[in-house]
Amino acid sequence: MARRAPTFACQSCGAVYNRWQGKCEACGAWNTIAEEPEVAAAVPAAQRSGRKGRAVVLESLKGEGNPPPRLVSGIGELDRVAGGGFVPGSILLLGGDPGIGKSTLLVQASAALALRGHRVVYVSGEEAVDQVRLRAGRLGLAEAEVGLAAETNAENILATLQGGPPVRLVVIDSIQTMWSDTVESAPGTVTQVRTSAQLMVRYAKQSGAAVILVGHVTKDGQIAGPRVVEHMVDAVLSFEGDGGHQFRILRAQKNRFGPTDEIGVFEMTGRGLSEVANPSELFLSNRDSGAPGTAVFAGMEGTRPILVEIQALVAPSSLGTPRRAVVGWDSNRLAMVLAVLDARCGVRLGGHDVYLNVAGGLKISEPAADLAVAGALVSSLTGAPLPADAVYFGEVSLTGAVRPVSQAAARLKEAAKLGFTRAIAPLSGADAALDGAIRAEGLSSLTGLVAAIAARAPRRAALPAKEGSGAGEG
Ligand code: TYD
Ligand code: MG
Repeated sequence: MARRAPTFACQSCGAVYNRWQGKCEACGAWNTIAEEPEVAAAVPAAQRSGRKGRAVVLESLKGEGNPPPRLVSGIGELDRVAGGGFVPGSILLLGGDPGIGKSTLLVQASAALALRGHRVVYVSGEEAVDQVRLRAGRLGLAEAEVGLAAETNAENILATLQGGPPVRLVVIDSIQTMWSDTVESAPGTVTQVRTSAQLMVRYAKQSGAAVILVGHVTKDGQIAGPRVVEHMVDAVLSFEGDGGHQFRILRAQKNRFGPTDEIGVFEMTGRGLSEVANPSELFLSNRDSGAPGTAVFAGMEGTRPILVEIQALVAPSSLGTPRRAVVGWDSNRLAMVLAVLDARCGVRLGGHDVYLNVAGGLKISEPAADLAVAGALVSSLTGAPLPADAVYFGEVSLTGAVRPVSQAAARLKEAAKLGFTRAIAPLSGADAALDGAIRAEGLSSLTGLVAAIAARAPRRAALPAKEGSGAGEG
């Protein structure tokens, strides 16, 4: 056989090049391109030999197809994010920073399923059996009958799984440590990760077991190496949180069998992860409600309303280009809100540094947070605290109008439940009549909000005295 020219693949995104280069043009990563052995090696021999294909029976969409029941672990936050439990025969990728608690979560889930009488196998490629045992002991789960193995060879794992009685759940911790005999490259390379994942996908479909793969995440939040794996799996969940906070958020990024906007909230305690049934209470605890520069945002994560505090600090800048630092929100979105405040409301922040933080380490992606962000910014600039009993939500448009957002009713209900009495938000007629417990104060433009805050400000000179067009918060 003629020797093929070597191929080079980006170890982060899997893009293929025919020569080495320093930067991957597909994903922008540096120094991630490495030589890969021939991909053809992974193709089964029968296909290479030019065997004729076998016709398969085509089915109709209607069909019988009684889906097997989902595997429910009883850990409510996990089951909900997975779409109501794990689907037999499906494969799920759990990504997250090292040390965030992926292994802890999966040991807890494995033990929970084992205690419900399912056969569960937990394969650790990173820790020795004793370490996993130690952790289970600490979690008080040593009694659960989980099959443990410390193994990194994909073929050995498959032989083990296929040997015994049928397995319902398999955890592979982590996919980056796995390697297969069929390819030559080192563990952790794209080819190895992809091949091992393919073997596990095939095993899941054939055996009907649910398989969970753990994947590490790089600094910029990509699942390292196996972005290629994301396409193969049925669901991608990410486990987020930052080291300084106790709570962790499980988020569905892709799910063929459930919604992708659900989140599950956990708290890391001395005895493992515990579920947080009411996240708003957690995110609003220790709130300093009398301080200027904070606004409570009534947000939605999937079907769940979550109240969270947005903090802003606006301070005169000594830099030529003032700083804009954002934690937990989109910096482009902040730039847009600043521009609208400047152009439509006369709030000039060009000479100020702006810091924005979403309290508690939550990451918000909803445009509905615009209004709360604008409120916190103006409050910080003027030194006027926002009313402590009010929540904010609404999308700001480039014209300075405030647009209604979805699920206002659920947001208002959650705010009322937590003792808030006013909501400052753009409301349609139907929403306004909603709730007796909370007074919804309609707002149609950003100018209205700015005027209302300026009216409470000790230093009125900071803002141009403009009359608002929408109803304010008085
Ligand atoms: P781990 O599950 O090993 O993270 P990952 O698999 O994502 O790398 O979590 C390790 C961290 O969790 C470690 O810093 C200690 C902490 N932890 C607790 O705080 N309480 C516990 O009960 C356990 C088991 C871990
Ligand atoms: Mg781990």
